[in-house]
Amino acid sequence: MNLIFLGAPGAGKGTQAEIVCEKLGIPAISTGNMLREAVKLGTPAGLAAKEYMDRGDLVPDEAVIGILKERIAQDDAKNGFILDGFPRTVAQAEALEELGVNIDRVIEIHVPDEKITARMSGRRVCGGCGSSYHIEYNPPAEEGKCDKCGGELVQRIDDKPETVLSRLETYHEKTAPLKDYYLKKKKLVTVEGQEEVKDTAALTLAAVTAETI
Ligand code: AP5
Ligand code: MG
Repeated sequence: MNLIFLGAPGAGKGTQAEIVCEKLGIPAISTGNMLREAVKLGTPAGLAAKEYMDRGDLVPDEAVIGILKERIAQDDAKNGFILDGFPRTVAQAEALEELGVNIDRVIEIHVPDEKITARMSGRRVCGGCGSSYHIEYNPPAEEGKCDKCGGELVQRIDDKPETVLSRLETYHEKTAPLKDYYLKKKKLVTVEGQEEVKDTAALTLAAVTAETI
């Protein structure tokens, strides 16, 4: 099954992708996590992406499409995958089609902008594996440590309030049009993302496994 998780920054795409990928036995592929890894390693792609990410802009399509193409060609993705944060523009969605990738379902996780800022200030991410936590709503078992890999939890540079606002603007301008794009293809299902993590997970799993859209 090939799935896309769509939604504003902080809507819970990564959190839900981590839960659903374990249930379905397919990898969650986050272009944001891959780009942050490239920045950390100081690769040419990472250095080129950093300035866009730090100011809340999208990294140019051709760079992200290249990274995604390599990732979905890997062995673990042959039975399906969850794309978290890709596509983010109509051009990226068209590139997926040109690659011959059939998308089964697009799950939009809906959270209004007003709720996003509170989530971002309490978010902590694992510097090792990229897993996402919240100090209040989704805390790790041991403070400051990742449940999955034991890595140190840190704040993301782009979670500063002014950068979050810029990311939200970018989302509405460039990514939200994908809702219409996939609605027309009868692939879009919208899930309410304001419930607790476990409740949103139940809604998301139901949307993924329902026989019809
Ligand atoms: P990316 O890393 O994808 O960031 P994003 O889309 O802005 O989304 P986030 O990761 O911030 O949020 P999320 O929806 O995953 O929420 P999370 O689960 O963490 O991209 C970063 C940057 O990389 C972009 O700005 C861009 O520059 C670049 N980039 C990436 N992909 C690109 C692409 N395809 N094209 C071009 N550029 C690209 O949850 C957020 C917080 O809320 C956490 O603390 C979590 O614990 C908490 N939370 C989650 N669910 C709930 C809930 N139900 N109730 C309460 N709290 C919750
Ligand atoms: Mg994420």
